[in-house]
Amino acid sequence: MRCLRVLIVNQKGGTGKTTLSVNLSSGFNQRGATVLLDADPQGSASHWAKISRDATDLAPIERVAAGAVQDRLKNLSATHRYVLIDCPPHLDSDLLRQVLSQVDLVLIPIQPSPLDLWASIGMAALVHEAHISHPQLRAYLVLNQIDQRNALSRSLHEALASFELPVLNNGLTRRAAFRNAALEGCSVYRLGNRAASAVNDIEAIIEEVLNL
Ligand SMILES: Nc1ncnc2c1ncn2[C@@H]1O[C@H](COP(=O)(O)OP(=O)(O)O)[C@@H](O)[C@H]1O
Ligand SMILES: [Mg+2]
Repeated sequence: MRCLRVLIVNQKGGTGKTTLSVNLSSGFNQRGATVLLDADPQGSASHWAKISRDATDLAPIERVAAGAVQDRLKNLSATHRYVLIDCPPHLDSDLLRQVLSQVDLVLIPIQPSPLDLWASIGMAALVHEAHISHPQLRAYLVLNQIDQRNALSRSLHEALASFELPVLNNGLTRRAAFRNAALEGCSVYRLGNRAASAVNDIEAIIEEVLNL
């Protein structure tokens, strides 16, 4: 059984790494044994899981120092179907390069605003370099906090096209459900009907990456 190792990274803070990590890992956990490595010293994903006393819908979350991610990956990939890694912002570039050589898929959440795009160009270039030396590595930008009322502007499409990395077809819309899940210490799956659209966002991303 092969393990899919997914790194969720952006050296910029607040782009949705933890939101994406926690909800995706919950969806993956419904498909096969999953663990989420929380490599952020701030421990946001771990705090998320502690809010609810009965977080049965969340995948197990394990805190790990960024420098220890590679070792944990080796062990966990033998016993798990999916391992996700929620990265800290300001992750050291050398460490990032090392981890990139050990994962299968990189997801870079990014907000569709010029400031966020500019802030992520350097890191996307680093991921692209890693892809050249490890062609089996797949890497995608994932749009987050998409405004459901407005289509992406043409200038934004042009800015996205200037990245050397492709954009996943599916992204996350800005929805209260994503904030509420964090407030309640659960995933959007647990929120029932009021989060159906948010669940659809997450499921669409999972199905897209499983079919890459
Ligand atoms: N799709 C979304 N819709 C609504 N709020 C979101 C969405 N994605 C992230 N957020 C909110 O944005 C903030 C930053 O997200 P977070 O996942 O903590 O980013 P990061 O881990 O990259 O720092 C949080 O308050 C989170 O609840
Ligand atoms: Mg985070």
